[in-house]
Amino acid sequence: MNRKILVCYKSVTGFTKQYAEMIANEINGTLMDLKNVTAETISQYDIVVFGGRFFAGGVDGLKKAKELAAKGNVKNFVVFATGATPNTAEKTIQEAWKNNFTTDELRRIPHFYMQGGLCYEKMPLPEKLMMKAFAAVMKRKIKNQNEQTEEDKEFVRAISNSYDISSKVYIEPLVSFLKTEYFR
Ligand SMILES: Cc1cc2nc3c(=O)[nH]c(=O)nc-3n(C[C@H](O)[C@H](O)[C@H](O)COP(=O)(O)O)c2cc1C
Repeated sequence: MNRKILVCYKSVTGFTKQYAEMIANEINGTLMDLKNVTAETISQYDIVVFGGRFFAGGVDGLKKAKELAAKGNVKNFVVFATGATPNTAEKTIQEAWKNNFTTDELRRIPHFYMQGGLCYEKMPLPEKLMMKAFAAVMKRKIKNQNEQTEEDKEFVRAISNSYDISSKVYIEPLVSFLKTEYFR
């Protein structure tokens, strides 16, 4: 079956773009930056995958992608998010999805998470400052706790510096979903 698939993304420091490229390569899709996507473009595809980063709990670009998908009458809309949170923090990730989708959307829109990391070198200055402030608040909070777990300390250490925990293995659940659902 020859179905047209668009993989679009919004990315600031490159993690989401990298995952979008890997997904597009794997399923032979067209790759586009969300800023170049219009309702008209999107309407020409059978399947649209959108990827954005988690940003203070929200998925950056998701609102625009949802609007375009609705306007373009997209039948098969799939979302993925990247973030600094490790894939193993399932509860945190589920909570984050609940902030971004209604109950109906959670059921209707297939969604996947892929751990990325943090890249202070490529972050715009205001975002760098936000992250540094967040790390400082967390540090203070943990210091005032009666019990300081190794996990808490590790979290503060992690968000204070750049790190890359991305890997191609994390695209696998989304890619197999696309292959079994749409390319049988
Ligand atoms: C200001 C700010 C807020 C962030 N908020 C979250 C968050 O709520 N959850 C999370 O997992 N990652 C968060 N991150 C990390 C980014 O989602 C992560 O670095 C992402 O992979 C960046 O994607 P990009 O490289 O495509 O821009 C945040 C990063 C910044 C700079």
